[in-house]
Amino acid sequence: MILIVVLSVFIIFLGSYLRNSFQASKKGLPPYLNTYPRQRYLFRKNLPVHKGSTILDLGCGDGTMLRLFEKEYGCKKAVGYDINNFAIRRWKFINKILWKKNITLIHDDLFRADLTWYDYVYLFLLPDFMEKVEPRLFERIDPETVVICNAFPFLNRQPTKIVTDKKGKERLFFYKK
Ligand SMILES: C[S@@+](CC[C@H](N)C(=O)[O-])C[C@H]1O[C@@H](n2cnc3c(N)ncnc32)[C@H](O)[C@@H]1O
Repeated sequence: MILIVVLSVFIIFLGSYLRNSFQASKKGLPPYLNTYPRQRYLFRKNLPVHKGSTILDLGCGDGTMLRLFEKEYGCKKAVGYDINNFAIRRWKFINKILWKKNITLIHDDLFRADLTWYDYVYLFLLPDFMEKVEPRLFERIDPETVVICNAFPFLNRQPTKIVTDKKGKERLFFYKK
């Protein structure tokens, strides 16, 4: 009986995940893919993110990075936008249980995010999509906001800083307006 329940839950989750991924790829949107563990290691060690700061993840998936920023850097407010309803709903529920009060997950298009509040904006999106995001993002952020891009840089501006791992494989790009 327990096995049937566990299996059913698993199948529902898998179905929902596959459906969302399929819809995203059909629309040419970045897939729901969390920042990899080896990238997260780079994040844990190398970011000049200060305690008590605010951070926004545009396309946050299930909010993995927001939890890292909250835990490792003591961010007082970590907000994420994502169109993947499956990821957002599941982790909203889990965050509530874990009493993660500083983390807010919003099921909405990242282009509708209010960008004016944050010390940092984090992105892990595919290059095509980065190109669309770039002009709108830099038009609307505060001059002091630091933008952190994982893996893919913006095409039309120079980063203020690049952080790489020892092998030069993982890269983080930092920008200001
Ligand atoms: C590669 S994942 C990154 C997840 C997370 N930021 C991380 O680093 O773990 C990209 C995410 O962008 C989301 N996404 C794509 N287009 C979006 C849009 N227009 N508005 C909000 N989220 C979007 C996808 O659903 C996916 O979860």
